[in-house]
Amino acid sequence: MEPPKSKVGIYYYSLSGRTKEVCVELSRLLNCYIEEIIDLRERRGFLQFFRNGFEALFNKETQIAPLKSSIRDFDVVIVGTPIWAGKIPPAVRTFVNQNASDIRKYALVFTYGFELAKRAVSAFEKILGAPPAGIAGCTTREVDEENFSNELQNFIKMISIYI
Ligand SMILES: Cc1cc2nc3c(=O)[nH]c(=O)nc-3n(C[C@H](O)[C@H](O)[C@H](O)COP(=O)(O)O)c2cc1C
Repeated sequence: MEPPKSKVGIYYYSLSGRTKEVCVELSRLLNCYIEEIIDLRERRGFLQFFRNGFEALFNKETQIAPLKSSIRDFDVVIVGTPIWAGKIPPAVRTFVNQNASDIRKYALVFTYGFELAKRAVSAFEKILGAPPAGIAGCTTREVDEENFSNELQNFIKMISIYI
């Protein structure tokens, strides 16, 4: 595939690696920039699971590492995120809040256990003031079985008018 004409950047957060796997594959397909959103708080562990869910549910933010790139250099920003408690993880919320004024067009890549919650999409719409240009959603199982190439192809078709 030809490199996109617009500049596309993928920013993803991933605790257990599934969103990362999907986003890395997408960056390969689009031949575009990719960067991880890093939460500076420890999120792993059994007890953390409940805290993580609680913080997502109540729209909490966290401290994230400074980005290595400048978001405003990208025409289209793709955000990759897991669903937590039907919402988005604190690191993703912080990322979007901190960079909202520099995000022009955006699209979303979700991974989730059982439901691509509408509330997770509306969290972005509320902050960014517009609907996403495209949405991809892969279940945990699909990622583990490496069965997400159709979803990514459909996603690329959706955003192709912008890239
Ligand atoms: C704290 C926490 C809360 C979660 N809440 C949901 C949820 O409400 N709905 C859902 O479908 N999956 C939920 N999941 C499952 C994750 O969205 C799913 O496993 C995802 O693929 C993990 O992505 P990652 O490997 O990139 O971290 C939750 C996972 C965690 C850790």
